[in-house]
Amino acid sequence: MEDATKSSHGGENNSDLEEDRSSEEDFGTSELGTKEYWEDTYQRELETFKDIGDVGEIWFGEESMSRVLRWMDKAKIPESASVLDIGTGNGAFLVELAKQGYKNLTGIDYSPASVELAKSVLQAEDLSNVPVKEMDFLNCQGELKGFDVCIDKGTFDAISLNPGNKAEGKKLYVQTLKDALKDNGFFSITSCNWTKEQLLERFSEGIS
Ligand SMILES: C[S@@+](CC[C@H](N)C(=O)[O-])C[C@H]1O[C@@H](n2cnc3c(N)ncnc32)[C@H](O)[C@@H]1O
Repeated sequence: MEDATKSSHGGENNSDLEEDRSSEEDFGTSELGTKEYWEDTYQRELETFKDIGDVGEIWFGEESMSRVLRWMDKAKIPESASVLDIGTGNGAFLVELAKQGYKNLTGIDYSPASVELAKSVLQAEDLSNVPVKEMDFLNCQGELKGFDVCIDKGTFDAISLNPGNKAEGKKLYVQTLKDALKDNGFFSITSCNWTKEQLLERFSEGIS
């Protein structure tokens, strides 16, 4: 893995996630770590999108997408690179990546409503060719392999808050990421719960 780990603090609508920022040892849990929470959230956002065409919340705001895009540009990631958006939510970032010229995009999310919303958002932008799959990143049976770039905006944060399997989930995440990335692939993570140092420590385990 290239040294491309990013951490970002902020996003005015993310106070629930920020509430739990603390050292790794006493990190709290939250409903934001559960599939039910995200399914309810994206069910509501899907209805809103159908009603008024609003894509809903973009985690960490629009600037977080620009920031990752600037980094991709600086890292000279070619438009042909295969890019995986881990926990794509409403798919808004896939839309931005496609608009930027990236042609080999995949989104995954474990919430069926998120997948339906992301597909609807992409379709509205004439981007139905971008695949979005319903998949649990922590249980994807080796299906994710060979990506040049993996992007996470808020998903590791959510996984870190899971009331059931926090420690196991975090370890599994690193293992799956390692399998999903090509050798010398890039990983970009935006987090409001973890510091850059904590992320570098976590993701340097087992990934070189
Ligand atoms: C904070 S939201 C971020 C959504 C999107 N990346 C964004 O920036 O707007 C976290 C997302 O991760 C998804 N997620 C959480 N755990 C997951 C898992 N184990 N596998 C796949 N998706 C997961 C949730 O369904 C949700 O869409």
